[in-house]
Amino acid sequence: MKLAVLKEQAKHEARVAVSADTVKKFTEKGLQVVIESGAGKASSISDGVYQDAGATIAKTAADALKGAELVLAVQSPDVAALPEGAILVSQLNPLTDKATLEALAKRNITAFAMELMPRISRAQSMDVLSSQSNLAGYRAVIDAVSAFTKAIPMMMTAAGTVAPAKVLVLGAGVAGLQAIATAKRLGAVVSAFDVRPAVKEQVESLGAKFVEVPSDESGDAAGGYAKEMSDDYKRKQTELIAETLKKTDIAITTALIPGKPAPVLIPEDAVKGMKEGSIIVDLAVASGGNCPLSKADEEVVAHGVRILSYTNVPSRVAVDASQLYAKNLFNFLSPFVKEGALHFDWEDEVVKGTVVTKGGSVVFPAKKEA
Ligand code: NAI
Repeated sequence: MKLAVLKEQAKHEARVAVSADTVKKFTEKGLQVVIESGAGKASSISDGVYQDAGATIAKTAADALKGAELVLAVQSPDVAALPEGAILVSQLNPLTDKATLEALAKRNITAFAMELMPRISRAQSMDVLSSQSNLAGYRAVIDAVSAFTKAIPMMMTAAGTVAPAKVLVLGAGVAGLQAIATAKRLGAVVSAFDVRPAVKEQVESLGAKFVEVPSDESGDAAGGYAKEMSDDYKRKQTELIAETLKKTDIAITTALIPGKPAPVLIPEDAVKGMKEGSIIVDLAVASGGNCPLSKADEEVVAHGVRILSYTNVPSRVAVDASQLYAKNLFNFLSPFVKEGALHFDWEDEVVKGTVVTKGGSVVFPAKKEA
């Protein structure tokens, strides 16, 4: 079976879907791996390294795709260029990008959207949202710190004491927890807020303070995700966050309810209340942003506050992001590769959970959940 990997076409995308390690593993399992020349360059993987791992290098995307039965990607490639009937494993934004799913079905592509990986323990090693968000949470803090014109840790010097920076993390999921850990490691005083009381313990175990809205309402929904909160809760939450922001130097926002616009947690009035020179990094910008002033891939300065909103933060740590993403894909596919070909078990939870197009139709969302 021929497995093809292309150079990613999306703007700001430096990742690649296979690493030298996974090329070697796929080859050992009998797959023929063909990679478009330069596909790994932005992730510091040269054609030569791929060749040494067992891949063949194709000059163009069209050459790589010729006769390919399996295509691995980070973001959806040009659907019209894919060989009809091929299998595609990629991130596909299935909750928002219906047009791509329709196009894939029309081309009879069997497509798997990796974002839909069920959050069950067996699938942790295949979970691209976790591996990529973890790096995004780390990088968000690094981006904030490099834009911040003050020091992060407390420093006691003969000329005086530098106070530690105060970091507030909104949304303590995968990205948020890593942001907390990173800010703590740098010596910041960290607080965090989330609507799911279940994460309080995790936040505190990282040495951060959990900011609690006085309410009996819980934001817990199935699968470690949040549900939308009542208006009364939202009002109390906004007031409490605005109060906390007055004393905050860096706010990292990561609040998300899958498939919904990101909740507004830092309205303009709250930005006004922040100190001059403070930083907001809005990771949720692709879903509309937790701060309405954030603009995708632009730096906004509003009321003396710098707001950074990169839409593809994992790509800013492309080397590690690619290695982990590639491993996630291998871990997903590996149990189904037998004698150099893919044989999916359509009853398997991870297969059922991620398949979005099959047999010429869009099969997501599955009927019973529709
Ligand atoms: P996650 O689902 O693990 O965490 C989201 C957290 O937000 C959950 O803990 C949830 O309880 C919390 N939350 C939901 N509504 C909230 C509210 N009103 N107030 C406070 N907390 C609330 O998601 P993950 O993987 O950590 O990603 C977080 C966000 O970052 C998402 O919007 C995701 O799309 C985005 N992201 C952006 C990247 C970028 O490159 N810009 C890269 C990776 C993630």
